[in-house]
Formats: sequence, structure tokens, C-alpha cells
Amino acid sequence: MGADEVLLDVDHIGIAVSALTTAVAEYRAALRVEPVHREVVQDQGVEEVFFRTGSSFIQLLGALGPDTPVGRFLARRGEGLHHVAYRVRSIEEALDRLRAAGVPLIDEAPRSGSRGTRIAFVHPKGLHGVLIELVQAP
Ligand code: CO
Repeated sequence: MGADEVLLDVDHIGIAVSALTTAVAEYRAALRVEPVHREVVQDQGVEEVFFRTGSSFIQLLGALGPDTPVGRFLARRGEGLHHVAYRVRSIEEALDRLRAAGVPLIDEAPRSGSRGTRIAFVHPKGLHGVLIELVQAP
């Protein structure tokens, strides 16, 4: 890994689902994956379930209500890929780099994510239509 590299690895793929418990059961049965973590993140209006796949995770996202980011996403687009999350050494360094490159940010500063991580979201319009989350391990 080069010293100049911003992204270390894929942390997780976030998938918006309309019924979390049902989706978890279907993922377990179809893909033979076991949930390793479940957490409600109140300030994001989501409940998250993680399945480990190698060094990364699948993250199923259930909305806590219709007037939340994932609730609005489901109403507008339906279930499916919501975001791709990359591990970074330093969120501040990654945000500085993106800002310098002219990429629009959703979060100008890091905030708390699930699993004790620090996270920041990058606007999809700056990266060809994909919502990107930066994740710094605790
Ligand atoms: Co995420």
C-alpha cells in the first residue's frame, strides 16, 4: 500500500431493505452468512445488520421511519444498493483530499457511525452516482 493511498479496503456494501428481519432471514438462508452485529443508529434513522464476508461486510439497512434518509431512499428507488463504504486511515485526511479534488461532501466533518467507527458520506454526484462512505476504525 502506497503512503499516498486514501482508501485501504472495502469496509462494507450498504443495502437498503424494506423489512430488515425478513431480509436477514433471507440472506442467512440464501447466502449462508450469519449476522455478526446489529445496531440502531438513531441520528441516522437506521437499524443496521452486518454479515462478514472475508475482510468486508454486507450491511443491511432498515429505515426507522419514512422520514429518514433510508426511508426516503426506499420510497424513491426501492430496495437495493445504497452505498459503498471504504476504510481509510484518517477521515480528515481523506476529506481534505476529496475537498481539494472538488468532490462535494455530505459530511464536512466526521461523525459517529456504528461499531464505534468514525464515518463521513461523500455526495454521489461527485463520484459517478455512487454514495460513498468513509470509515475509520475505532
Ligand atoms: Co454504511
